[in-house]
Amino acid sequence: MKQRRPLIAGNWKMNNNVDQASSLIEGLLNEDLPQSVDAVVCPPYLSIPASAMLLSSSTIGLGAQNVHWESSGAFTAEVSAPMLKEAGVEWVIVGHSERRTFFGESDSTASQRALRAQEEGLNVIVCIGETLDERESAETFAILERQISVVGILDPHLLSLAYEPVWAIGTGKTASTDQAQEAHSFVRKQLTKIFDSTTSQQIRILYGGSLKPANAHALIGQEDVDGGLIGGASLDVASFSAIIRAAADCAAGD
Ligand code: PGA
Repeated sequence: MKQRRPLIAGNWKMNNNVDQASSLIEGLLNEDLPQSVDAVVCPPYLSIPASAMLLSSSTIGLGAQNVHWESSGAFTAEVSAPMLKEAGVEWVIVGHSERRTFFGESDSTASQRALRAQEEGLNVIVCIGETLDERESAETFAILERQISVVGILDPHLLSLAYEPVWAIGTGKTASTDQAQEAHSFVRKQLTKIFDSTTSQQIRILYGGSLKPANAHALIGQEDVDGGLIGGASLDVASFSAIIRAAADCAAGD
């Protein structure tokens, strides 16, 4: 039996307009999903209101893919934590590698976004992970240590981490179970230094990067892997449901 309740979050990225989001959610609601797993979907902003309506009496959580660090103001195209909360959002992803690569996100902006979201009572998933170059030059742990160093300002009770090796995101390449466990155990050690050992044992560390039904059980079965942040496979009812079921099996020790 695993001590931490698994968390499976679907990062839909820039996919699913209102109609598509609604039919994906209706599909998930028709599945008899296990209740031993926290399942969350993160639609694009414009699909959030319709998703919130459909999910209002369900145990599937609703997340956003980003949030700004201020409540309001002259920040063109940004969305604030109070706005997300008003729309029914309970979770938010920050620091995703696509934000870091394409939109200049840094460790510091990611932590500021997370802080403001937590002040609004939102759960945050802070994404970290090394690039292929960094892995090949043996910098993985140094990069992870630097990326994690900013979470000390956050409330650990509303915090999850997602370890997503950048080379595995959307590429079909997955970290081996040993690579994932090694990185997750390193992340947990850093969390022990930042918080304390009891707290670090309570924080969920998700794996992300080409997680799919075929590899979900092996990866989530690792001691320090507490679930997944799923991109491509979260866009399909059968695949996302299968990953949630695999996580439930891991939690039950099967
Ligand atoms: P992927 O994306 O599952 O499509 O690799 C994961 C992520 O970017 O969160």
